[in-house]
Amino acid sequence: MTTDRAAATLDWAAVVQERAAQKVTALANRVGGAFLHATVDGRYTPVEGEWWTSGFWPGMLWLVYQRTRDERLAALARQAEDELEQLLLDDRFYELHHDVGFQFIPTSLANYKITGNTNARRRSVLAASLLMGRFNVAGNFFEAWNGERRRGMSIIDTMMNLPLLFWTAEETHQPRFRHMAEAHAQMAQQQFVRPDGTTNHIVRFNQETGEPIEPLGGQGYAPDSTWSRGQSWALYGFTLAYRYTGKTTYLNTARLVADNFVAALPKEGVPPWDFRVPDVETAPRDSSAGAVAASGLLELAFLLPENEGEPYRQSGIKLLDALNEHCATWDQPEQDALLLHATGKLPENQNIDVSLIYGDYYFLEALGKLNGITQTCW
Ligand code: GLY
Repeated sequence: MTTDRAAATLDWAAVVQERAAQKVTALANRVGGAFLHATVDGRYTPVEGEWWTSGFWPGMLWLVYQRTRDERLAALARQAEDELEQLLLDDRFYELHHDVGFQFIPTSLANYKITGNTNARRRSVLAASLLMGRFNVAGNFFEAWNGERRRGMSIIDTMMNLPLLFWTAEETHQPRFRHMAEAHAQMAQQQFVRPDGTTNHIVRFNQETGEPIEPLGGQGYAPDSTWSRGQSWALYGFTLAYRYTGKTTYLNTARLVADNFVAALPKEGVPPWDFRVPDVETAPRDSSAGAVAASGLLELAFLLPENEGEPYRQSGIKLLDALNEHCATWDQPEQDALLLHATGKLPENQNIDVSLIYGDYYFLEALGKLNGITQTCW
C-alpha cells in the first residue's frame, strides 16, 4: 500500500471509530452495563445474562475504554462481568454451554488483559474449565448445547470459543487446555471445512461412539449451503488457532476459508445471510457476518509477512468500508446500534434485517485494529 493510501485509510478508520465511540457512549448512558442481543424498532432491550451474546456489549465498553479511558465505561463493563460471574455460582450454571467463550472472553478476559484484575483472571480460567467439561473424547468435539433435541451437536461457531482454552493453557502453563482445543480444531478441519473452503454449520455426532452422523443446515439455508456467519466464525477461529499454536495447518485452513469468503461477496460488499441461498441477489444481508470476517481478515493480515498479509488487510478494509456505507447508522440517532441489516436466524424467522450486538462488537473491534489496537481479548 502506498504511504498516502495507508494514511487515508487510517484517517478514515479514526473518523468512523470516533463516530462509533460516540454512539456507544450514548447507548451506555441509556442501558448501562446490560446484556444485549438484537434491536426491535431500532432499540436494544436487555436480555438475560445466560444468553450467548451477553459478553458483547460489555466487550464494546472495554473497546471504547481502550480508546477514551472513560472510567465510567470500564465500571459498567465490570458491573456486567460481576453479574455474569453469578451464572457460574447458581442453578443457571446448568444452562451454560460452549458459548462461555463468547460470554467470558470479551468480559473477564478483556478485563484481565487490559487491567490485570485477578478476579477477572480467575473467572476466565473457571469458564475455560467449564468449556473443557463439554469435550466428548469419543469424537474429539465440544458438544455445543444442552437438551435432548440437541444431543451430539457440534457447531462451527465453537472455533471462536477455543481461544479461551488456548489462553488458559498459556496462562496456567497447563497444555491440556490447548490439547483439547486442538483436538476440536482438527476435528473441525475434517468434519466442517469442505475442500472448497466452505463450511457446515452443524454436525451431529453419536455421543457414545463419536461417529459423525450427518451435517445439518442449522442457521444456514441447507446442510450443503454456506451460512455466511458460520463461514466468518471459521475464518476468524482458525486464524486464532494459528496465532496461539503457530501451526501452519490452521493458517492454511484460515486462508482457504478467507479466500472463499472474499470471493463469494456480492459487488456491494455486504454478505447475504447464506452464500448459496437461491435468491442470493435479493436475500437479506448479514452485516454481522461481514463484521466478524473483517476483524478476522485483519487478524490474519497481522500474522502473515507483509506481502502475503496485504491482500487480506485490503479485503478487511473493503468490507468495513461496505458496512460503513450500506449499514452504518451515524445520522440515525433513533437507532441504538452501529450497524443495520444483520440476520440472526432466518430459517426460524428470527431477527431478520435487524441490528445484532455481535455485529456491532466486531465492527468496532476491526476499526480498533486499524487504529493501532493489536491485542484484542481473543
Ligand atoms: N453463535 C450463534 C450465531 O452466530 O448466531
